[in-house]
Amino acid sequence: MEKCLLLSLILLFFHFPSFSSSSSFNSSLCHHDESFALLQFKSSFTIDTPCVKSPMKTATWKNGTDCCSWHGVTCDTVSGHVIGLNLGCEGFQGILHPNSTLFNIVHLQTLNLSNNGFYGSYFDSKFGRFTSLTHLDLSNTHVGGEIPSQISYLSKLQSLHLSGHYELVWKETTLKRLVQNATSLRELFLDYSDMSSLRHNSMDAIFNQSSLISLDLTDCELQGPIPPSFSNLTRLTFLSLAQNNLNGSIPSSFSNLQNLIHLYLSGNSLSGQIPDVFGRMTKLQVFYLASNKLEGQIPSSLFNLNQLVDLDCAYNKLEGPLHNKIAGFQKLIYLRLNDNLLNGTIPSSLLSLPSLVLLYLSNNRLTGPISEISSYSLEYLSLCNNKLQGDIPNSIFNLANLITLCLSSNNLSGVVNFQDFTKLQKLDSLSLSHNSQLSLNFEYNVTYHFSQLTKLDLSSLSLTEFPKLLGKLESLDLSNNKLNGTVSNWLLETSRSLNLSQNLFTSIDQISRNSDQLGDLDLSFNLLVGNLSVSICNLSSLEFLNLGHNNFTGNIPQCLANLPSLQILDLQMNNFYGTLPNNFSKSSKLITLNLNDNQLEGYFPKSLSHCENLQVLNLRNNKMEDKFPVWLQTLQYLKVLVLRDNKLHGHIANLKIRHPFPSLVIFDISSNNFTGPLPKAYLKYFEAMKKVTQVKDDDSLLYMEMMLSYRADNTKGNVSYYDSVTVTTKGIKMTLTKIPTMFVSIDFSRNKFNGGIPNDIGELHALKGLNLSHNRLTGPIPQSIQNLTNLESLDLSSNMLTGMIPAELTNLNSLEVLDLSNNHLVGEIPQGKQFNTFTNDSYKGNLGLCGLPLSKKCGPEQHSPPSANNFWSEEKFGFGWKPVAIGYGCGFVFGIGLGYYMFLIGKPRWFVMIFGGHPKRRVNRRT
Ligand SMILES: *[C@@H]1O[C@H](CO)[C@@H](O)[C@H](O)[C@H]1NC(C)=O
Ligand SMILES: *[C@@H]1O[C@H](CO)[C@@H](O)[C@H](O)[C@H]1NC(C)=O
Ligand SMILES: *[C@@H]1O[C@H](CO)[C@@H](O)[C@H](O)[C@H]1NC(C)=O
Ligand SMILES: *[C@@H]1O[C@H](CO)[C@@H](O)[C@H](O)[C@H]1NC(C)=O
Ligand SMILES: *[C@@H]1O[C@H](CO)[C@@H](O)[C@H](O)[C@H]1NC(C)=O
Ligand SMILES: *[C@@H]1O[C@H](CO)[C@@H](O)[C@H](O)[C@H]1NC(C)=O
Repeated sequence: MEKCLLLSLILLFFHFPSFSSSSSFNSSLCHHDESFALLQFKSSFTIDTPCVKSPMKTATWKNGTDCCSWHGVTCDTVSGHVIGLNLGCEGFQGILHPNSTLFNIVHLQTLNLSNNGFYGSYFDSKFGRFTSLTHLDLSNTHVGGEIPSQISYLSKLQSLHLSGHYELVWKETTLKRLVQNATSLRELFLDYSDMSSLRHNSMDAIFNQSSLISLDLTDCELQGPIPPSFSNLTRLTFLSLAQNNLNGSIPSSFSNLQNLIHLYLSGNSLSGQIPDVFGRMTKLQVFYLASNKLEGQIPSSLFNLNQLVDLDCAYNKLEGPLHNKIAGFQKLIYLRLNDNLLNGTIPSSLLSLPSLVLLYLSNNRLTGPISEISSYSLEYLSLCNNKLQGDIPNSIFNLANLITLCLSSNNLSGVVNFQDFTKLQKLDSLSLSHNSQLSLNFEYNVTYHFSQLTKLDLSSLSLTEFPKLLGKLESLDLSNNKLNGTVSNWLLETSRSLNLSQNLFTSIDQISRNSDQLGDLDLSFNLLVGNLSVSICNLSSLEFLNLGHNNFTGNIPQCLANLPSLQILDLQMNNFYGTLPNNFSKSSKLITLNLNDNQLEGYFPKSLSHCENLQVLNLRNNKMEDKFPVWLQTLQYLKVLVLRDNKLHGHIANLKIRHPFPSLVIFDISSNNFTGPLPKAYLKYFEAMKKVTQVKDDDSLLYMEMMLSYRADNTKGNVSYYDSVTVTTKGIKMTLTKIPTMFVSIDFSRNKFNGGIPNDIGELHALKGLNLSHNRLTGPIPQSIQNLTNLESLDLSSNMLTGMIPAELTNLNSLEVLDLSNNHLVGEIPQGKQFNTFTNDSYKGNLGLCGLPLSKKCGPEQHSPPSANNFWSEEKFGFGWKPVAIGYGCGFVFGIGLGYYMFLIGKPRWFVMIFGGHPKRRVNRRT
């Protein structure tokens, strides 16, 4: 949006060089070779619809007529040579070849080919022939490649427009030569090109070009601080450095740029305070600083800019109260200061600025009452998410031009008649939510009429009633109120998206067929009881239905499985009983099916495998009595399968398909009655669990947002929905209301699995949680578990595992919870790293274990006999884990030698600390 605004502003306010669009007549016929060249040039392209609806200039280009009379062509009155071509937006499509006859018209002074489709063309070096050019406009022509060095021959250039070329690359020397040679350059529009090769001194070279009047370097991948030589550009009226990677502070030498009218610095990483240097920049009309890291107060000299029309400082860390001098902004139309740390009250002078159309102050820390508002031109007013108190001022209802009004999330109080808002007939969006002391009065016998309203947010206002509304809302949020009784049909017909969650509704009216516009319905966390009527399926356009956390009983209506648009169905935490619907259709669009914590019983319907888009299936805590639904393994997008706490039984067959459950990242079948060996094929082939997605720090905020696929344009919907599963991890049962994308876990616990733990489990590199506890597993802990370097929680407790704890497990750097208790493990507990953080509880109930943290010391009799294929094993040398410690970063021989030394002195820990590092080396040598 920023960019669009920026572009449109450029269009609005910036005067492009004026090419004469009418041709200049003269008596002499044009030169024959130039006439020929022009016709050839034209015929080398196909002509598509031009971008502006004006007669095509080249339609007047006819063989045998005077080319000086053709539209878009200017000739020199004396020599008769073609000196100007104004062919912007002519709809040319095709390649601008190096052999194009265009390059034969060498007397050109102005050349405008902007907004044509020369896709696949390169910026040819022959442009260097046009040494007479003063104006060159190739913006939005889709010419790509490196700018040829010959462009620096154009020493007479006054205006160069190469905007809109993500494909164009500037070499440092080329730009430097150009600006040094073209000493009359006044306009340089190079936005959206690649200047990442530019170092500081070439930027300086540009900025020494004191003839420049306009400079646009938007989105040019510029880096580093703004060079101080900027101050040389004293004639600049237009400057954009927006959307780059500039850092450092804003140089105070900006104060020299006293002719600036437009200044765009938004979308960088500029930091520090805004310098107090605006005293003499009196011509500034548009000033964008948004989306940087600026802090401190807005400097007072800024408030002297009484020509300002548009000021955007949003998304910074600006603090302190707003200056009363803001009253000087008599011409201000747009003011964005949202998403900062501003405090204090809103100056009343701000709310009476005569020209103000848009005022965004949301997401700050503003306090105090809202004074009376007399900026009658206001269309967009957003004060939400502050700490504003007191009444909504009556004058707000006189702002007849308001389109958006947001007062949500404040501490507003008092009594407001909802009727008053109907005075604002241009309102499109009204948000009053989260003002717990605000009391909204409805008259029950009145039907409220809004002609334009599409979004109404009245969440968390302690409403006990809601009136009839006329008009068609896109989204209505009444969540977290005290609405009670029956959800009526007219309410269901009010809006396309309806959030009624967290209220006190006890029933739903028999739903009529008129409600078929409803797309999203959230009735979760109410007091709904009894059977769910099949009339729910009269909501035939439903995409999202959440009835979770109520007290419904009875069967799930079969028809729900056939609602043609349904993508998310959440019925969790009710008392539904009986079997699952068994008629999921092949055209099902279901993405999420949450039926957990009900009383559902019987078999899994095979038709579930028709739901090809299914990503989440949660049936936790029901009474399903079936074998494992192997046929789900073909679902390509299934990410979460939770079947824990049911009565599932039998062996899990190792069906030999190539990629079973290819997308699965959470697999939880805990607390059932499964028997037989662990499903080895799954452990080996869960593709999604093998891929470790490299995550940046703040990626922990990345969530599996079903809404993304659910609604691409979720700007209007008010129902935000995340899937939730309860996972047992790190020893704590927690409900993840949002599933972080990289949370990968397997839980087979509390079943009757027997046999060994397959070695293949070591291939599931992305695993964060592995719980195999409370089964009948035997054999050793596979060494391959050391490869699960992302593992945070490992629970193998209450099995019959034997052998030693593999020393390699100390390499699991992310491991926070380890439970190996109640097995038959023997030998010395590995020491070092994470293992130093585990307590007795991790090991208790293994009579053969010894060493820290257990009080039982290890004697020689603790070690098992050496095995033949384990030559370099601890046993062979009889000093336990110690070679591991030595192996960190040391050569093998050195390792063994020191290891032996360590055995003798028996004080290894300091060594581990000193050498640290990764012990892979030793492992490699062994195998
Ligand atoms: C223009 O017309 C002349 C003869 O009338 C012809 O020789 C020439 O090829 C034509 N040029 C083009 C570009 O069609
Ligand atoms: C220019 O070169 C291209 C191929 O490189 C060729 O197809 C085209 O006919 C040539 N045009 C002229 C006017 O010579
Ligand atoms: C500067 O422009 C002149 C005239 O076109 C040209 O001869 C000269 O080579 C150019 N210098 C550079 C460094 O490009
Ligand atoms: C441009 O500014 C720099 C530093 O601000 C200064 O050293 C240099 O002399 C200036 N150049 C011109 C041509 O004024
Ligand atoms: C506003 O915030 C500043 C710090 O940013 C603090 O010093 C000042 O006391 C605050 N003023 C009010 C009115 O809260
Ligand atoms: C609405 O009802 C109230 C009393 O309940 C009455 O005073 C008022 O006139 C009614 N308004 C309309 C528009 O019928």
